[in-house]
Amino acid sequence: MREESLGDRRLSALRSIALAGLIAGIGWATAAAGPSPRPWADNQLSPDRRAQLALRAMTPAEKRRLVFGYYGAPKPGTSYRPPSGARMGEAGYVPGIPRLGIPPQWISDGGLGVATQRVSTDAYRERTALPSGLATAATWNPSLAERGGAMIGAEAHASGFNVLLGPGADLIRDSRGGRSFEYASEDPLLTGVIAGAEIRGIQSQHVIAVLKHFAFNDQETGRTAYDVRIPHAAARESDLLGFEIAMEQGHPGALMCAYNRVQGHYACENRWLLRQVLDRDFGYRGYVMSDWGAVHSTVRAALAGLDQESAAIYDREPYYGAALRKALHDGRLPGAVLDTMAERILRSMFATGVVDHPVAAGARLDFDADRAVAETDEQQGIVLLKNTASVLPFPRTLQRIAVIGGHADRGVLSGGGSSTVFPVGDNAVPGLGPSGWFGPQVYLPSAPLGALMGQTPQARFRYASGRNLGHAVAIAHWANRVIVFATQWATESEDASLTLRHGQDRLIAAVAAANPKTVIVLETGGPVLMPWLDRVAGVLEAWYPGSGGATAIAGVVFGSVDPSGHLPVTFPASVADLPFRTLPGAGLPPNQAFVIDYAHEGAAVGYRWYRRRRLEPLFPFGYGLSYTHFDYGGLSAQLVHGALVVQFTVRNTGLRPGAAVAQVYVEPEEGGSDTPRRLAGWRKLALRPGESRTVSVRVDPRLLARIDRRGRRWVRAAGAYRLWLGDSSAHLVQSVSVDLPAWQHSVRWPIAYRTPVPSLARRTH
Ligand code: BGC
Repeated sequence: MREESLGDRRLSALRSIALAGLIAGIGWATAAAGPSPRPWADNQLSPDRRAQLALRAMTPAEKRRLVFGYYGAPKPGTSYRPPSGARMGEAGYVPGIPRLGIPPQWISDGGLGVATQRVSTDAYRERTALPSGLATAATWNPSLAERGGAMIGAEAHASGFNVLLGPGADLIRDSRGGRSFEYASEDPLLTGVIAGAEIRGIQSQHVIAVLKHFAFNDQETGRTAYDVRIPHAAARESDLLGFEIAMEQGHPGALMCAYNRVQGHYACENRWLLRQVLDRDFGYRGYVMSDWGAVHSTVRAALAGLDQESAAIYDREPYYGAALRKALHDGRLPGAVLDTMAERILRSMFATGVVDHPVAAGARLDFDADRAVAETDEQQGIVLLKNTASVLPFPRTLQRIAVIGGHADRGVLSGGGSSTVFPVGDNAVPGLGPSGWFGPQVYLPSAPLGALMGQTPQARFRYASGRNLGHAVAIAHWANRVIVFATQWATESEDASLTLRHGQDRLIAAVAAANPKTVIVLETGGPVLMPWLDRVAGVLEAWYPGSGGATAIAGVVFGSVDPSGHLPVTFPASVADLPFRTLPGAGLPPNQAFVIDYAHEGAAVGYRWYRRRRLEPLFPFGYGLSYTHFDYGGLSAQLVHGALVVQFTVRNTGLRPGAAVAQVYVEPEEGGSDTPRRLAGWRKLALRPGESRTVSVRVDPRLLARIDRRGRRWVRAAGAYRLWLGDSSAHLVQSVSVDLPAWQHSVRWPIAYRTPVPSLARRTH
């Protein structure tokens, strides 16, 4: 019944559009196939108009073709083979309509580079890998995120792909999330700004970016089985706000609905998520495609707003194949709904330039230039967590350096699952991890040992794999300085452990006992516990470092690069401090449904949770050291034409050039524990020694507002708000109070019609 009333509404909206079309002489009747003058080829027309014109020329079968996706590679364990137009090892394929000049959609994963679905163990497409999503977010530098997006978008285009399945913008609600490395942050503003910039970059190359996984795919355990429960207001103020900002800033052509259920309904047939939040409130005009195997119905999904079934072979049945045809024939699904689905897909293809700028499979790629983009990203994403007695940067006069563990003699680690990029030059450490899905573990052939040696040719180096504790301890004794590379592989499909595996904690403790000048370089998907922290001199979080990782790490170690990364996630001190001590669903049989109730955490995700609970993390959100020092001050705030603008000054008081990440947090003075302070904006500033800059940040009014009980409006109560300035969520050096009048705005915040991107991205850098 619910679905029918929704369908009626969708239909009536469509009817009024159709009526307007008729009045304008467009008409919605399906034209017969035949020679076409192709008026939609005119790129002076708007994408909407071009989509309408193309749609008008399409037969019902052609419209249905656009909404039905094939898996693009042979499916392991089955006799399935993709259609002949699909490219080797692609994630998805939607045939085109040649007679109308509509190209196929060639779809590749993912957000970190052009991935390959494994066809056989030796058929890979070798491409450049960006550092993990967390590393990019740790740069707090949207222009780098945009450059990275443009790099992988260009590689996709030159590889024959016009749809790229990324970036991911789910919030990191649990530090153990297996896909945290694909996402950006626990904070909606940082997530939205970084993901939005990545989308702009990808789409600048005429490749559709697919923002995913909408929504609340915040853990991997039971991802197809769980049902997220969260009050609507808290949902809108947290995860959905991250998506909303990403969409405003990036205008993604497509959005991928997630595997899980939300408030009792699968995300891909969730009327609240797709119709109300996406369409009505966000004013989204792109199309919605499903995750691989996330469709559960035909009519219900189509009426809820799922425009395209991806890789139908992964669903229980091809819901948008024969079943869709039958539903249309029986009248259970109005033809106008199919029109809307096809039109939204066409619109994004025109808007992104997919039709006007055909892909060039086999075009030459400049892997050196692309690796340099990944390297710059990593340089700014590495976070210096500890630096006792300035053990870092290493002086170039050092004589003896020991390097231990993490396959540092061969490469740097990357994350597992569909986002895996097979590197140029092949996997540096083959044979690790599962041989089937979601393996293998891939080490990019960017060897830290060699890169470190390149920084200081006169020093002697010794390397120990770490498997033999005695050998590791012996070379630690011998050395003036020691670097231990600690790795933790994380992957899609399963959540991670916060404890370093394979006895690495024991290795680090033993090495640090042998030589106190020990520095740890972490290559992890997300936070880990550091029981040895007090015993080591330095710690660098390098995340998954990407194709240019080794040189970036070596540059930071020897100080040719100042570390300027800041944590985009909280590092907890203990599993006991997480909102869920045990991951929901842990130990349940696969596919057994269960509920994840986010009510107690609500919108207070990550650092806000820690503050509300008065818990001391190991390292707070926003934290990161530098080799130089910065002073923050001169904080003031004022309303400029109704917008809250914060101004402050940052000075480099040290002796080296460096980049500060000045962060502004906000909370109502009378908020109580319900509204712990949150990130309101930031600026990343590169400063020479002695240089100071005064800058301003405009605060998005939603960050001071709450959603009202009925979910209709953003409401900011009149009153005093405190603004804080500092270099992490826990180190705030100055604050001011500002009285603000009441403000409210409808939650309908139509992305499509808002001024396109005078973005926070540009304002904050
Ligand atoms: C993942 C998506 C991915 C898709 C295609 C799914 O398992 O959740 O992120 O894009 O596969 O490979």
